[in-house]
Amino acid sequence: MFSPSLLKKFQSVQTPFYYYDTPLLLNTLKTAKRSADKYEIELHYALKANSNKKILKLIKGTGFGADCVSGNEVKRALECGFKADKIVFAGVGKSDEEIRFAIKKNIFCFNCESIDELKVINDIAKSEKKTASIALRINPNVNANTHKYITTGLEENKFGINLWELESALSVIKKSSHLKLIGLHFHVGSQITDLTVFKTLCIKVNEIMEWFSNRTIFIENINLGGGLGVDYYNPDKNPIADFETYCSLFRKFLKVEPGQKLHLEPGRAIVAQCGSLIAKVLFVKKGVQTNFIILDAGMTELIRPALYQSYHKIENLTGAKRKESCKYDVTGPICESSDCFGKAVDMSETKRGDLIVIRTTGAYAESMSLDYNLRDRAKAYLAEDL
Ligand SMILES: Cc1ncc(COP(=O)(O)O)c(C=O)c1O
Repeated sequence: MFSPSLLKKFQSVQTPFYYYDTPLLLNTLKTAKRSADKYEIELHYALKANSNKKILKLIKGTGFGADCVSGNEVKRALECGFKADKIVFAGVGKSDEEIRFAIKKNIFCFNCESIDELKVINDIAKSEKKTASIALRINPNVNANTHKYITTGLEENKFGINLWELESALSVIKKSSHLKLIGLHFHVGSQITDLTVFKTLCIKVNEIMEWFSNRTIFIENINLGGGLGVDYYNPDKNPIADFETYCSLFRKFLKVEPGQKLHLEPGRAIVAQCGSLIAKVLFVKKGVQTNFIILDAGMTELIRPALYQSYHKIENLTGAKRKESCKYDVTGPICESSDCFGKAVDMSETKRGDLIVIRTTGAYAESMSLDYNLRDRAKAYLAEDL
C-alpha cells in the first residue's frame, strides 16, 4: 500500500498525522468529473468532508463548485479560488452574519431549510439592496438506509422543509421582493452504498416537480445533494467510488425538462479513500480478555468510530512481517471509553513504537478534529510534501 521509501519518510514525521495520496485524489476527481460531464451534471464538492486548503485547491482546479454549510466554509471556498457563482450554501441554522456575508459575496444559491429562514434571507437581502437566489431544501421523507446519525431525509430529521409546508413556503416567496426561487435541493444522507436509495429519491423528486409544474412554476436547478458511499472494508480493491452508476441513475430516473440543470454535492466519495491517519503505538496493554493497543491518535483526530460506530481498516505498517498475529482493541489516548478505533482487530503482533495506519480517513476526519484534552492539532501532508 505504501512504498518502502514512503514508509521511511513516515518514520521521520511527528505522529499522529494525516497523509493524503495526491495521485489517488486526482484520479478520483478526474473520474467523478468525467461521469458528471457525460451526464451533464454540475458538481459542488461538500467542504465539510475535508476543508484542507491544499486539497480544496486541487478540487477547484478540476472544475468543481463548492457546497458549504457555514459562513467560514464560504470564506474558505472563496479563498481557495472557487467562484462565488459556483457556491451553494446549505445549513439548518445559518446566522444573520453568515447570510449577510454570503449575500454580499453574490453566491450562486442559498439552500433554504425553513420558512423562517426565507423571511430572514429576504430581509437581509433587502437591507443589502440585493436579490438572493434560493433553492428550497425539501425533506422528501426518503430513507437512506444508512447510520441514523447520517440520515437526513426523513420527517423525523431536522433538515429541510417538509412536503406539507411547501404551499406556505411558496406564498412567503411570492411576497418576498428580494428572493428569487431558482431551484430545489435534496440531501437524504451520507455513506449510501445501496444505490437504489437514489432511484427512490428520483421518483419522489419527480412527484415534487410535478407539484411545482401544476402551479406553473419552472424549477431551473435540481440539486440532489451528496451521499455516495465508499468501501471502508476494501480500500485497495475499490479505491474510487462508482461515479458512473451514481451519475447515470439521476439521468435515467429523473424526469428532467428542457432547460433544467442537475447538480450533485459529493463530499466523502471525493476525498475519503485518499486519506490515511498515521499513528504510533504508545503502549500495548494486556487486559483480562483483551489486549489493547494505545495509539497516539485518538477520537480527536478521527471521531467517526466514536460518533457513528463506523468501521475503518487498521494495519500495522512497520510490524507487518511479524509471524504471530493477535486480536487487539485499538484505542486512542483520550479519557473516554468511546475512544476506540476497532475492537478485536486481527493484526500482526504489535509493539511499542510501531507505525499504524487507519485507512479511508480523507473524509470527516481532519475536518471533524478537536482539541479536546488540549491536544495539539495533527498536521496534514500531501504526497508531495514528504
Ligand atoms: C447538504 C449536504 N450536501 C452534501 C453532503 C455531502 O455528503 P457526502 O459526504 O455523503 O457526499 C452533506 C453531508 O452531510 C450535506 O449535508
